[in-house]
Amino acid sequence: MKAEDRYKQMAGEKAASFVQEGMIVGLGSGSTMYWMVRKLGEMVQKGLTIAGIPTSLQTEKWAKEFGVPLTSFAQNPDIDLAIDGADEIDPEFRLIKGGGGSLVREKVVAAAAKQFIIAADESKVVSVLGHFPLPVEIVPFGFEATALQLGKLGCDPQVRTKGNEKFVTDNGNFILDCSFSRIEDPVSLHHKIKMLTGVVETGLFLNMADVVIIGDQRGAQRMNM
Ligand code: A5P
Repeated sequence: MKAEDRYKQMAGEKAASFVQEGMIVGLGSGSTMYWMVRKLGEMVQKGLTIAGIPTSLQTEKWAKEFGVPLTSFAQNPDIDLAIDGADEIDPEFRLIKGGGGSLVREKVVAAAAKQFIIAADESKVVSVLGHFPLPVEIVPFGFEATALQLGKLGCDPQVRTKGNEKFVTDNGNFILDCSFSRIEDPVSLHHKIKMLTGVVETGLFLNMADVVIIGDQRGAQRMNM
């Protein structure tokens, strides 16, 4: 296994240890969350009673495979704890997410959770957000016009593709990957993008993460704000 994958595994498993009996748990998306969901499956096997709300169809599949019981917002609109990965994390725990294309469901779940924990390998820690292209989910209708407006904010939006086709999110939308290089004021940028017609959500997760767990060669530890 590559070192980066080991770090993801350690961080994901450590995050799972925050889950307690009876909790409704938001299950994030991405390769780090694979390990987290797998660990939760082991904990359920040993007697833990929980129910998860998945943030993507892929995570739902993993939860079923590993025996993590699932619930829905209809049954449990209140989430005790959400756990997810991230593409970038700055010193104030501000995040870029959506590399896997699940940012809308991830944000809805995180916003509904009393506590939000991020698990990631060390490569995700940055001093300033923006090196990773910011994913922005947009409705397909008129996406060219939405991209034009987004470009005026200082990036060159690229429609995400999968093979020869446009990538379609679990919500039936497109993603524009927007390279800003350095996002000096994430709050202001988030609001400007959200104001554009056609935009569903940005991958900037601000003021949301309570705990960040980073996996590196020393193991998995909590990052200090
Ligand atoms: C999914 O849309 C993302 O927000 C993931 O949380 C992010 O891309 C991290 O993924 P990895 O755990 O695969 O690095």
